[in-house]
Amino acid sequence: MRGIWPAVASLWLCLFAIGCSEGASVRDAGLDAGLDAGDGGDEGLPVCQGSIELREIPEEIDTTFPVGPIVDLADRDHATIMWEPETVCEDGELVYGPSADSLDLRVAASRDDRILKARLIGLETDTRYFYRVSACGLESSVLSFYTAPPPSTPIRFAIWGDSQSHPEISGPLVEQFKRDRPHMTLHVGDVLGDGTVYDQWRDEHFTPLRPIGHYLPTHSAMGNHERNALAYYRYFDNPIPEALRDPDQWGANYALRYGNVFFLVLDTNNLHLLAAELVPDSAVVEWVEAQLRSEQARTATWRIAAAHHPALAECWSPGNCDGFAGQGMVEEWLFPRLAEHGFHAYFCGHTHAYERGEIDGVLHLISGGAGGNLDEWCRDFEEIEIVENAHHYVRVDAACDRMTLRAYRAGESEPFDEVVIEHGAP
Ligand SMILES: [Fe+2]
Repeated sequence: MRGIWPAVASLWLCLFAIGCSEGASVRDAGLDAGLDAGDGGDEGLPVCQGSIELREIPEEIDTTFPVGPIVDLADRDHATIMWEPETVCEDGELVYGPSADSLDLRVAASRDDRILKARLIGLETDTRYFYRVSACGLESSVLSFYTAPPPSTPIRFAIWGDSQSHPEISGPLVEQFKRDRPHMTLHVGDVLGDGTVYDQWRDEHFTPLRPIGHYLPTHSAMGNHERNALAYYRYFDNPIPEALRDPDQWGANYALRYGNVFFLVLDTNNLHLLAAELVPDSAVVEWVEAQLRSEQARTATWRIAAAHHPALAECWSPGNCDGFAGQGMVEEWLFPRLAEHGFHAYFCGHTHAYERGEIDGVLHLISGGAGGNLDEWCRDFEEIEIVENAHHYVRVDAACDRMTLRAYRAGESEPFDEVVIEHGAP
């Protein structure tokens, strides 16, 4: 086993391909790490309760504007809707309300060149809002989104990555996981081929995203193909902390709590983070350390980190196996910390394949198969148990007692792999 084996050495991991009756099973890391796992041990902490309640996602796709409207963010009491008209318009506006025929509330959009954003505040938690956007004398149809559920609530979400350059693949895949009715999705980076080519944001990401983009948030990690382009920050509204809001310096790092899950989303392209071992007091490294031990993380039922680059990868570009085998910082700096702080999983992409394994007792899952040309198998790592060279996505059911991950090939309704992480298992 490579890397450091810290306090969670007693964790066991039972990994089987689908076909075993229960799929694979992983013991909860949080309890071994001596952390409150969000199951109500301390007074005042959220107690995970209930089962996953799926929401309605309408079929309608609105094409009034070239981009959007897209739900950039849907937190418990605020949300951001983004859209982009064909030309610069000063009259961007969003109206909204509790039903389709009572859009009585009004928000003027902020504008950054052609991109418009409406920020809604004072919203009710876990509530459906109907909305319509307008600009340049045009108005969309009435669409809707839900605010995030309380921190005690189990959720379903989808993981996808590396959808770059092939909307003819990523578009149908989005429609496929829309049928799962996820609450939100997490894209592990490379949403397009080149972030500095403006039209690619529309053609390779926002157009294929439309079936879900009107209705639920997709948060993404910064891929290397985004190239830290300004467009990433102009289009999205990820909750990047104020101290790290200098893209040239810090890239895109943020954390969010959605229901019973804590997400730590890191920019593994950022040089300060890559140098974490050598320069442990940079603002981004100190922020990551603070997030790992934060109350938001400690009180979540499930703690998840996500970034673009894997710690280890068995697959890489055909004919170029020497090109990449994993990112040292992720394996040697990040994973021991994830294990120490009771994180359950690390989701990533970069390698255009599906690879599932375990490092330091934490699930390591590459889901880089949402559209980009597939990689080939290059090498074996004992930490990686399952490899599938196929376009795919992963559905995650984060219930109170277990988190179940199922990986589906594009166009198939039966999962090709499944892993279950038991919460608090002995
Ligand atoms: Fe990629």
